[in-house]
Amino acid sequence: MSTARKIRPLVAGNWKMNGLKAGLGEACKVRDALKAGGGSAGAEADVMICPPATLVAALAQDAVGSRLLVGGQDCHAKASGANTGDIAAEMLADAGATAVIVGHSERRMDHGELDAEIRAKAEAAHRAGLIAIICVGETAGERAIGLTLQVVGRQLAGAVPKGATAANTVVAYEPVWAIGTGLTPTAADVAQVHQFMREALSKQLGSEANSMRLLYGGSVKASNAKELMGVANVDGALVGGASLKADDFCGILAAYCK
Ligand code: PGA
Repeated sequence: MSTARKIRPLVAGNWKMNGLKAGLGEACKVRDALKAGGGSAGAEADVMICPPATLVAALAQDAVGSRLLVGGQDCHAKASGANTGDIAAEMLADAGATAVIVGHSERRMDHGELDAEIRAKAEAAHRAGLIAIICVGETAGERAIGLTLQVVGRQLAGAVPKGATAANTVVAYEPVWAIGTGLTPTAADVAQVHQFMREALSKQLGSEANSMRLLYGGSVKASNAKELMGVANVDGALVGGASLKADDFCGILAAYCK
């Protein structure tokens, strides 16, 4: 679809449960590379790092006045309450985040999160003025028996709220088997799923879906970024391991240089 190429891409790094204060230096190197502009700095994309919650406020402070955006990795559906250990979307916003990942497969697996809860978290993100980065993706077993599109379709229908717009929502396709494994789907497989997502979201949300960013995630690195980011309907990347080191992350951002 030609409209997809007009979408400003987003490359978001997900640090997962990695990073102490001392590690913020890597994020600051990314910030400085963006400031310098051009070069390998991905001038054609929005760039975000989602550090652990303990570092959101400090990174947001470090990023003031720069192009580097800061996001959270999860939020609770409620704005406040007796929920020990949880973090409200409002708290992430207060700390300086502008987005939050919801429904990552590690949350789905480790915490038993289902689509209805993920939708409630996305709605919480919207309520707090954050962009919800909603993750979907099939397991290896589901792909093996041909259920990929069915699973992704069910997750989109269940997890993407009615109020989702191109401005407040990003969808990330992350095949579970590609996360942290070094494996990636072929460009043709990615194209098929992203085309399917664009069409499914159009049915759910109407024309908003035309300009909604659809990220690919799962073992994105500098060596495959250009090919994966060049696939139709891929509007950026969600990057795990390769976002921890500034050089690796900037190598991915280079896919978005003129
Ligand atoms: P990975 O993780 O890049 O390390 O495969 C991606 C993700 O889980 O978002």
